[in-house]
Amino acid sequence: MKEKIEQLLQQIEQFKFTDKEALENFRLKFLSKKGLIPALFADFKSVAPEDRKEMGLLLNELKNKAQDYLKTNQEALEQQTTTAASTLDVTLPSGHFKGGRHPLSIVRKEINSIFERLGFVISEGPEIEDDFHNFSALNFPPEHPARDMQDTFFIHKNPDIALRTHTSSVQVRVMEQGKLPVRIIAPGRVFRNEAISARAHCIFHQIEGLYIDKEVSFADLKQTLYYFAQEFFGKKTRIRFRPSYFPFTETSAEMDVSCNICGGKGCNICKYSGWVEILGCGMVDPNVLEACGIDSNEYTGFAFGMGIERITMMKYQINDLRLFFENDIRFLQQFEQIQ
Ligand code: PHE
Repeated sequence: MKEKIEQLLQQIEQFKFTDKEALENFRLKFLSKKGLIPALFADFKSVAPEDRKEMGLLLNELKNKAQDYLKTNQEALEQQTTTAASTLDVTLPSGHFKGGRHPLSIVRKEINSIFERLGFVISEGPEIEDDFHNFSALNFPPEHPARDMQDTFFIHKNPDIALRTHTSSVQVRVMEQGKLPVRIIAPGRVFRNEAISARAHCIFHQIEGLYIDKEVSFADLKQTLYYFAQEFFGKKTRIRFRPSYFPFTETSAEMDVSCNICGGKGCNICKYSGWVEILGCGMVDPNVLEACGIDSNEYTGFAFGMGIERITMMKYQINDLRLFFENDIRFLQQFEQIQ
């Protein structure tokens, strides 16, 4: 019996605990009901009475040793797996695209900062608007055909609540507050029920500008937008105004910039005209000032609105507007370095 005990002790000490399976094998081999240690306990009957005390002690020692051994190795194995997980260095470079700003965000930020340098502050308004802020206060009478120009998405077929079709609604919200003078730009998302194509989308982004004070004139409008065009597209950029129509401005105009790709010589981006239209603008219609509680005899103002997609496409020579919304990493990666 003593020999057997010593043999087992040796086996136990030499056992290799490589993995969880080895733990289980150890338990089955030595400690389970049919294992070698319980078998020795069963043999205890045949031990001579004078040896029983010694054998009993040795047997118990063996059993305790095997149990301790199993337990410490089990703990060691568990610890190993957790340290393996915690030694994973998540800060190591992965070699993949680490993320960057979306081109529309880059351009929005740049436009904002140009106007901020002129003293404009950023204002925001809700994307879900009522008829008053999106249309009526902006001098769109009911049934006016200009409402059709805007392909409005209504909410729950309620003709009073819609997704804003332009950021001009923010003008109204700011003017209503009655704090004069006003000098704001309002960047934001707008919605129109238009078929999606390379040049149009039902969701896009605009930046609105509004300046109201005493004696604001069309010359102020021109100078402000000229400064913007030169800051954004480069010092050589020229601008021109063409008469246009918006219900909320009178006089109204559209502004073109000389094509930044060909410098005005003519290319396929500017359709060989040398000019690209980038925004609508005009003097705030006195009806709009009055609807927002501002005395139109005392105050005048100008407003302008531009599509961020259009300007981003020009700046980075992007020929399909849908790329902005598809989250294709191959497209977004190209802007990774730009802050
Ligand atoms: N809100 C007009 C549009 O979406 C743009 C605009 C804004 C025109 C301000 C004039 C003044 O087309």
